[in-house]
Amino acid sequence: MKEQLEQIRKEALAALEQAATPAALEDLRVKLLGKKGAITAVLKQMGKLSAEERPVMGQLANSVRAEIEAKLEDCKTKIHAAALDQKLASEAIDVTIPGDPVSMGHEHPMSQVLQEIKDMFVGMGYQIVDGPEVELASYNFTRLNIGEGHPSRDRSDTFYFADDDSVLLRTQTSPMQIRVMENAKPPICILAPGRVYRKDEADATHSPMFHQIEGLVIDEHITMGDLKGALVTLMKKIYGQDAVMRFRPHHFPFTEPSCEMDMQCHKCHGTGEVDGQVCSTCHGEGWIELLGAGMVHPNVLSGCGIDPEKYSGFAFGMGLERMAMGRMKINDLRLIFDNDVRFLNQF
Ligand code: PHE
Repeated sequence: MKEQLEQIRKEALAALEQAATPAALEDLRVKLLGKKGAITAVLKQMGKLSAEERPVMGQLANSVRAEIEAKLEDCKTKIHAAALDQKLASEAIDVTIPGDPVSMGHEHPMSQVLQEIKDMFVGMGYQIVDGPEVELASYNFTRLNIGEGHPSRDRSDTFYFADDDSVLLRTQTSPMQIRVMENAKPPICILAPGRVYRKDEADATHSPMFHQIEGLVIDEHITMGDLKGALVTLMKKIYGQDAVMRFRPHHFPFTEPSCEMDMQCHKCHGTGEVDGQVCSTCHGEGWIELLGAGMVHPNVLSGCGIDPEKYSGFAFGMGLERMAMGRMKINDLRLIFDNDVRFLNQF
């Protein structure tokens, strides 16, 4: 029996030394120490021994078991460490390899021009305000002195929400004049940029959604001269000191008198021709219309609780896309909204 135990010990230690995986170790543990294992088998023969031999053999069996258990633990630790080493080696990351470059975006050309315009007006004391794109017809039309039958209210021009035509996508930023004036007392000096919507087919100069920038200044003794001064200052800042502008009489229901301002075409320099061909940018006009403006109509002022006898003011509304196209020499409006990075990267 003693030899048997010695044999088990020798073979067990050798076998454990060879085991390379946790599964192989477990296999050996069952074979050696399990209920049907080798040591148990030896212990079952204890009955045959004499009373003196039994404790000696029991002790020997226990020490062999203990030795095997210790070796098992030892091997387990070693195999675990080896597996970890291998895992770490296979997952090694070379932190010195350069990463994939991430290309940085930049501001959209329209945002750049908008920012320039805002900066300039903020410098002149204007406050930037924001308003809803889903607007009441009363703000978009009625309170701007635009009567019931006016063609701009037509369903073929305006996106309405309700059947009763009371809610719409604003067709202009001018309702911001009403929203500001009904809440603030003069002096008022605001700039309201934002999206506007009209049922227009998209082409080189039209889009069903575009941006306007509304300006409104109300105080005592405000004149058309102040309006001209503000707009000429802006144009020279955006298009350069030698930019050429003209003011034309026009009609808007909410301003009186009203005008439009054109900029001389940057492509044909006002001649309407390029290389004997009709200029494609201004369609031979020599001028590009940039904005509508005028002195705020007395009906609009009094409708907002501002005394037209005491106060006067001007308003203007310019197309941001038009401004950006002139500034960046872009000849098709659709490019601005396509968001093709090959186009955007040029600015
Ligand atoms: N809202 C007008 C338009 O869309 C422009 C405008 C604004 C005219 C302010 C006068 C005063 O054409």
